[in-house]
Amino acid sequence: MPLVPMRQMLDEAAKGGYGVGAFNVNNMEQIQAIMEAARETKSPVVIQASRGARKYSNDKFLYHLMLAAAELYPEIPMALHLDHGNGFDTCKSAIELGFTSVMIDGSLLEDGKTPSDLKYNVEVTKKVVDFAHERGVTVEGEIGTLGGVEDGHGSGVSHLTDPQQAVEFVQKTGVDALAVAIGTSHGAYKFTSAPTEEVLKISLIRKIHELLPATHLVMHGSSSVPKELQDVVNKFGGKLKPTWGVPIKEIQEGIRNGVRKINVDTDSRLAVTGAIRKVFAETPDKFDPRDYLKPAREAMQKVIAERMTQFGQAGHAADYKAMSLEEMRGYYKKGPSGCGGGCCCGGKGKKK
Ligand code: G3H
Ligand code: 13P
Ligand code: ZN
Repeated sequence: MPLVPMRQMLDEAAKGGYGVGAFNVNNMEQIQAIMEAARETKSPVVIQASRGARKYSNDKFLYHLMLAAAELYPEIPMALHLDHGNGFDTCKSAIELGFTSVMIDGSLLEDGKTPSDLKYNVEVTKKVVDFAHERGVTVEGEIGTLGGVEDGHGSGVSHLTDPQQAVEFVQKTGVDALAVAIGTSHGAYKFTSAPTEEVLKISLIRKIHELLPATHLVMHGSSSVPKELQDVVNKFGGKLKPTWGVPIKEIQEGIRNGVRKINVDTDSRLAVTGAIRKVFAETPDKFDPRDYLKPAREAMQKVIAERMTQFGQAGHAADYKAMSLEEMRGYYKKGPSGCGGGCCCGGKGKKK
């Protein structure tokens, strides 16, 4: 199947009441692991590359690997998404290369570190939406800054998404999908004990979804950081400190309340690292990269297949035929409000 616009995939997920995992990649083995997991579970999938991944791989490699994946897995709908675009130019270059979806993370300034204000976020996001929708490409924006209440920066509360601001942001930008900050953070160290509603605010998702029922919500920092994966890394020489991720049942509660895209990178990293450490520790005589990259790829496939089943996307690969970017462009153009349904009107042209 050709690469599909992420908007179509998330619309289908909303119809079916399930979530779609968005998995980060940097190389061929990771793409292969995801595609095998998608085939095994018959899942549509979002494959995403960060700015770091684009730089590490030279994104032309990633793009052509994705074209190979599309050819080799014709039954799997897949979207190629830019994760955490930091400005208009980064998003533009991804779109020009062939990404079918981009995230503009205007919650931070272009340095990717300093929190911005709403005015800046709206301006940069709208500029990306105008450019992307004209080309049929999906846009994810972010409101509130990720980090969580345990990351040691500030009080934490001010990082979380303000539901009213989320409404204003979606109305003014017309984004297709909205990343919300509910207390998760990137990486392995999210929580120092099993998270409760005090630190992981699933109730905030419920509120935002009530106000923005037509907007696809996105959960970043959604690795579950399972103890079994931590244990493999540590058993074979790793030094991970005890840590807790986002429990699957909380993600599933999010999915019941409008979360359609779930970002996972750390769980893949842990699976890959544990498998490689095991080969190095148990068979130190081996030096052919295939001897450790193959088990690493298999370990990543296993955790991703599990997530695909848990998020509910399993079994949905054959539900729809891919829309072209050209068809998607027409869809955005004909939305009565010009928003294609991504804004507050839900595609009806009437403000709620
Ligand atoms: O957003 C974070 C993802 O895990 C990507 O991480 O920027 O190190 O590639 P990265
Ligand atoms: P994790 O670090 O929890 O896997 O989150 C990844 C992510 O949000 C990528 O954008
Ligand atoms: Zn993220």
